Amino acid sequence: MKKILILFAALVGFAAGIIVVNTAVDREEKVTQPIDFSHALHAGKYKIPCMACHQRVMMGARASIPNIEVCGACHSTPMKKTPQELLVYQYVSQHKQIPWYSIYHVPDYVYFSHRRHVGIGKLDCKLCHGNMAALTSPPTKQFLQIKMQNCLDCHIQHNVTTDCSHCHR
Ligand code: HEC
Ligand code: HEC
Ligand code: HEC
Ligand code: HEC
Ligand code: HEC
Repeated sequence: MKKILILFAALVGFAAGIIVVNTAVDREEKVTQPIDFSHALHAGKYKIPCMACHQRVMMGARASIPNIEVCGACHSTPMKKTPQELLVYQYVSQHKQIPWYSIYHVPDYVYFSHRRHVGIGKLDCKLCHGNMAALTSPPTKQFLQIKMQNCLDCHIQHNVTTDCSHCHR
């Protein structure tokens, strides 16, 4: 089967700037991120809370992927001067947005809200994204695949609606 890679730039107004997020829709597609970002270092070792970077996760539909406005708080001067760290410093000092790929994405005809699941429903990120704080490199595939059946299974388990119109508005 011919793999289709759909890349589209979603413009999301956020904090001080505009972020461009490239979205790889095909679940199996190999993605190469611009920076070898480590959740194990930031969220694991340094215990930076998920919400400190994914700042919209409690109140927005999208969780948002942090960019230089967030990284710049710590990376406006190089620390250990490793090649990857200098790379993030370069983006920050040149005010260039980091073109992250997003591997988690629902199709346009589906409504999903982080606020509803995390802010109101108090569900752990791990249920859908696995143990992100253990990853030394960006994830390359979805933990809980974005398939209708996976949404429905959990909804049935939690006695939440399975009415078509709630997810397909
Ligand atoms: C019930 C399942 C579920 C839970 C719980 C969940 N997510 Fe998500 N996450 C998703 C889905 C589905 C998408 C794709 C959303 C879309 O396309 O709008 C996604 C996308 C994302 C993205 C990518 C882009 C974006 O802006 O949305 C990030 C980052 C993310 N989630 C972080 C988190 C964090 C951090 C938590 C916990 C605080 C969390 N998620 C909890 C299901 C979940
Ligand atoms: C709250 C502070 C903080 C924020 C915010 C932060 N970092 Fe870091 N980051 C660090 C520290 C501290 C280190 C050095 C860790 C070490 O080498 O011990 C680091 C190291 C790194 C490295 C180098 C890792 C290596 O092993 O070479 C990269 C790459 C990196 N960060 C990317 C980012 C990106 C991208 C962002 C924004 C999304 C970001 N960081 C946001 C604190 C932060
Ligand atoms: C891990 C469990 C889990 C998964 C996976 C999950 N949900 Fe949910 N969902 C919930 C829970 C629990 C609630 C109720 C939250 C609350 O209001 O307390 C909910 C609520 C919702 C609502 C609001 C329902 C209403 O009453 O209007 C929508 C819409 C929704 N989910 C869509 C989705 C979609 C789309 C997916 C798949 C991409 C998904 N959910 C995956 C657990 C889950
Ligand atoms: C220092 C900032 C920072 C912290 C803290 C952080 N993240 Fe991230 N997160 C990022 C960056 C940058 C990316 C994009 C690169 C990547 O995929 O690793 C990302 C990507 C993700 C993605 C993949 C989104 C997609 O669509 O590809 C998920 C899911 C996610 N983070 C969840 C979490 C969870 C859960 C936590 C807390 C345990 C967390 N993050 C803590 C910066 C952070
Ligand atoms: C809890 C959320 C949720 C509910 C409820 C839900 N769907 Fe979906 N649906 C999704 C998601 C997420 C996708 C996209 C992922 C996929 O294709 O599996 C999807 C995809 C679809 C597709 C496209 C499938 C394809 O193969 O292209 C159709 C058609 C559909 N849904 C119909 C329905 C009908 C009819 C109902 C009610 C009986 C329903 N959905 C209820 C979440 C939901």
